[in-house]
Amino acid sequence: MANTDEHDGDRRDFLYYATGAAGAVATGAAVWPLVNQMNPSADVLALASIRVNVADIEPGTQVTVLWQGKPVFIRRRTEDEIASAREADAEVATLQDPIARNNNFGEDNAEPATDANRALDETGEWLVMLGVCTHLGCVPLGDGAGDFGGWFCPCHGSHYDTAGRIRRGPANENLLVPIAKFDGDELVIGKED
Ligand code: FES
Repeated sequence: MANTDEHDGDRRDFLYYATGAAGAVATGAAVWPLVNQMNPSADVLALASIRVNVADIEPGTQVTVLWQGKPVFIRRRTEDEIASAREADAEVATLQDPIARNNNFGEDNAEPATDANRALDETGEWLVMLGVCTHLGCVPLGDGAGDFGGWFCPCHGSHYDTAGRIRRGPANENLLVPIAKFDGDELVIGKED
């Protein structure tokens, strides 16, 4: 698994604008206010859904796209990452946030925070989450960052596991899972009309 030292290398995150164009900007330790200053245009903010071709995303890597003015992490997890997330399922009731926070479940959005309830597909290979720390909104670092091998928020030290669940630090909710689904090689984020 990559660590934060490799973050600037081949595996670094990319910020793809919602148009699908590949104008790539490294997110690194960027904080949300910084992303916010990029001022996505009104038409981007108005998009109810975006489509992202994920065919070229390799296992163990992640891309970040902008949707509704917010970064969204699309991670294709390794088997180790999935196994690590599923190991923690045994203690799901006692996790800092035991709720799945998966908007694909609809309004009540209150299923247990098991890995299966947060991953997009049955195998658990794909995990899609808002890249916004649930403490005060910074963008967490990925690629195995933090003490639980998932994401780490450098602003005030929140550690998220490989399912994006908050495990230590001041944040009190798991990274939010937006409505998303596959359509062939494309990932559709948000509700299509
Ligand atoms: S904003 Fe992430 S820990 Fe405070």
